[in-house]
Amino acid sequence: MNNLLYYFQTPKLRLYFEIAKIFCLNIILEYIFLKEQSLLLVVLYLETLKHNTMKTIEFMQLPYPMEALEPHIGKLTMEFHYGKHHKAYFDNLHRLIKGTEFENMTLEEIITKSNGAIFNNAAQVWNHNFYWNCLNPKSEKRPCGNLHSAIEKKFGNFEEFKRIFNLAAMELFGSGWVWLVKNSNEKLEILQTANAGNPICQDKTPLLVCDVWEHAYYLDKQNKRADYLEEFWKIVDWQKVSARY
Ligand SMILES: [Fe+2]
Repeated sequence: MNNLLYYFQTPKLRLYFEIAKIFCLNIILEYIFLKEQSLLLVVLYLETLKHNTMKTIEFMQLPYPMEALEPHIGKLTMEFHYGKHHKAYFDNLHRLIKGTEFENMTLEEIITKSNGAIFNNAAQVWNHNFYWNCLNPKSEKRPCGNLHSAIEKKFGNFEEFKRIFNLAAMELFGSGWVWLVKNSNEKLEILQTANAGNPICQDKTPLLVCDVWEHAYYLDKQNKRADYLEEFWKIVDWQKVSARY
């Protein structure tokens, strides 16, 4: 049922649905008005539709208030990270794709089909959307269900998994992201991506991400990335992360 609902939300199916609507609308209008008038109304409807479909990518709303992650991530960090950095990637993306083949694509489609500035901004929007949805002030502190078993099988235990993830985060030079992903063989991997890199481009399913760009922690911890990582583990939304496995 969820897959069906998802399919109905895809741009391609929405387009088919809109074409069917236009076809029916034209027949009805021809019965009511003269043919020329009905065509004019259909053209007006198409213009409205074109305008509306230009806004398929929305700026995500945070799933919690700005101050909700305190004291682990401060309100000021959130205001800059979500309100300035994330918003800037979103605004840049809309500016860059306007009038291009990417205009009516989903974020995932843009990421897998673009490069350069469009890729960088689209991937940064996706990565931040995902990052905010990996965090929760009411964290369960540990994974659950099948993911818990898979982590123990792959890494030995949860503490060892965190140690290896932290090492990947500390060793990532410059700006980027550290991910827990499921590969095409259903196996877990810890992955580093530089800058705006995204595991979807490597045909891997993201489960958890940590933003290790300095803007994620500088206001709270200055240059101490290790301190930020310590706080990160206290607010991981393991319920959501585990459900993705
Ligand atoms: Fe960020």
